[in-house]
Amino acid sequence: MSAALAVVRPGECHVWTARAVSVRSAAAPALLKLLDAGERARYEAFLRDDPRALYLTAHALLRELVGAELDRDPAELAFTAVCRHCTSGGHGKPRLPDSPLHLSLSHSGDRVAVALTYTGPVGVDVEQLTRPGEAPLMVLSAEERAAYDLLPEGERTRGFTRYWTRKEAVLKATGDGLSVDPALLTVSAPDAPAALLGWAEREQPHPPVRLYDVPVSGDCLVSVAVLGDDCRVVMHEVAYDGDGVLRRPRRTGA
Ligand SMILES: CC(C)(COP(=O)(O)OP(=O)(O)OC[C@H]1O[C@@H](n2cnc3c(N)ncnc32)[C@H](O)[C@@H]1OP(=O)(O)O)[C@@H](O)C(=O)NCCC(=O)NCCS
Repeated sequence: MSAALAVVRPGECHVWTARAVSVRSAAAPALLKLLDAGERARYEAFLRDDPRALYLTAHALLRELVGAELDRDPAELAFTAVCRHCTSGGHGKPRLPDSPLHLSLSHSGDRVAVALTYTGPVGVDVEQLTRPGEAPLMVLSAEERAAYDLLPEGERTRGFTRYWTRKEAVLKATGDGLSVDPALLTVSAPDAPAALLGWAEREQPHPPVRLYDVPVSGDCLVSVAVLGDDCRVVMHEVAYDGDGVLRRPRRTGA
């Protein structure tokens, strides 16, 4: 992949999405070579092909993009994970200890997303619209639930999914993840510009939370949150070819 595909300038947040590469495809071995021993162990531990493919694609894509951005060998990058709520290690928000680059990854359905920025801690969330089962409405705050109940039936799946990507993006940016009840956060209504409107039980948690919806093709929604100054979001939809090489992105501003 050309480094020119991954220049993250100050004041920008770049978000890449890609469809998962089948673990049975000819491309998979090329992606697998990028993972470290710990990632390969997690990859092997999945019992089903679909989550394996998502995991493989997300972590290979993260490595390729960070490697290109920092001009480093993707396979040599040593990521760590930091948990806000315990010290046991091995889980939590991913980071690259020796770099000012902030990063986040997400996977859902057949889609993965990676976000990179120098502005501040970042959280990205991709969610497929066609999620089986009932929407877990208990994750909505009272204000969100009131707005959700007013949505026409046909807009509820998209509306709920938008609430969810926004909330999870914020919780991933702060590093809290789902150890914080998402119902404590109130984000703007699905048809309004993305914003964090309130966070019960948290006074002044961190730098300002900037929240953005990211336009993406297909049946999924993506939101990204950045802690710090407002930034320009740049979206790339990329695809792996049959040899496991990333194809040139289609680029759109958010
Ligand atoms: C992180 C979490 C929000 C992910 O939700 P999800 O919708 O299943 O997954 P996504 O695909 O959007 O994101 C997964 C990625 O988020 C990242 N991540 C994990 N924990 C994170 C955190 N606390 N903050 C930010 N990012 C996190 C990882 O890169 C993970 O990828 P991986 O599992 O392939 O390594 C959720 O699983 C979670 O919060 N888990 C931890 C709960 C917790 O903190 N328990 C207490 C531990 S002491």
